[in-house]
Amino acid sequence: MNAPRPPWQPPASGVIRGCWQLSRGHGPGWSRDRAFAALDAAAVQPGPLYLDCADIYTGVEALLGEWMASRGVTREQVVVHTKFVPDLGVLPRIDREYVRGIVERSRDRLGVDGLELVQYYWWDRAVPGWIQAAEWLAELREEGVIRHIGVTNLDREALGALLDAGIPVVTNQVQLSLLDRRPLAGLEEFCVERGLALLCYGTLAGGLLSASTGPESRSLTKYRLIVDEVGGATVLGRARAVLADIAAREGAEMADVAAAYALGHAAVAAVIVGLSRRGLTADPGAVRLGRRDIERLDAAVPATVPGAVYAAERDRAGPHGRIMRYDLNRER
Ligand SMILES: NC(=O)c1ccc[n+]([C@@H]2O[C@H](COP(=O)([O-])OP(=O)(O)OC[C@H]3O[C@@H](n4cnc5c(N)ncnc54)[C@H](OP(=O)(O)O)[C@@H]3O)[C@@H](O)[C@H]2O)c1
Repeated sequence: MNAPRPPWQPPASGVIRGCWQLSRGHGPGWSRDRAFAALDAAAVQPGPLYLDCADIYTGVEALLGEWMASRGVTREQVVVHTKFVPDLGVLPRIDREYVRGIVERSRDRLGVDGLELVQYYWWDRAVPGWIQAAEWLAELREEGVIRHIGVTNLDREALGALLDAGIPVVTNQVQLSLLDRRPLAGLEEFCVERGLALLCYGTLAGGLLSASTGPESRSLTKYRLIVDEVGGATVLGRARAVLADIAAREGAEMADVAAAYALGHAAVAAVIVGLSRRGLTADPGAVRLGRRDIERLDAAVPATVPGAVYAAERDRAGPHGRIMRYDLNRER
């Protein structure tokens, strides 16, 4: 009989380091040496280092594989989460072999025996086949190519449909920040009920919710659109003022407070903070937020992005959908 599968474990620090920043095209200033230095610095923190990447972050799985091989790290030292995001144009003709091919390519690029967590997304649920594709992923989990299945950017309805189909989903990676509180309108409660973890990106809004922003990046383009949804520069300024005030009291950074805000919600097991080309880090454990702090932060941003989780982004003709690329899986 097979040994029971150990459950998926969140990082003890509550922080996963995001590697979208290392992908070609995200923004200037990232050389291979700088990426390795950022990963080396992140690995110095106590406990295993958790990294988030994706099959569609061009060049990143291979880069992480190279870095791990050159440093001789073990599974106990570095835990990598990746994704399975089939290209939009492939959806109508996807088959079992395609799913296997992408997942095995991630495993081989990373140079690991099995993938710790593969987070699934399907660009257009009007195209049939998205539950079937998840079932093929679940087969790979049975084989041990994947240890755990997660999803990304699913609203409560879609997540419920996958769970009802028997897909053993353990995590949902969504945007959650002071500016974007869409997951708090039902999804978070559902995850608590069903024992699923939320992993949250966008907690710093690419740096807009920190003391200073760096050079232009795809993250800043994305989160400026989120700022527009919630009231523009005035609201952002108010949010930043409250973050700065709490940070000063705590002897911490604004980014620590912004990350702690997201991590403070019951279903949230970790925040995914992007690697910084300036060597910055955010440590939500550096601050203690009381109820009054949360009320002040919420009051600074009275409106959130309208609609369900990722609904605005799923509109490919709208401002959020127009800035995305739907064909990155075929890039190397
Ligand atoms: N599933 C999805 O759809 C999705 C979407 C977006 C992101 N993600 C994941 O989430 C990760 C995070 O990306 P994000 O776009 O949401 O960015 P973010 O974590 O909100 O912002 C990170 C950026 O903030 C800047 N920064 C400013 N002050 C900082 C501080 N004190 N500590 C750390 N960073 C500071 C850094 O940029 P500088 O280089 O300028 O210092 C850093 O790269 C990605 O790498 C990816 O893994 C997933």
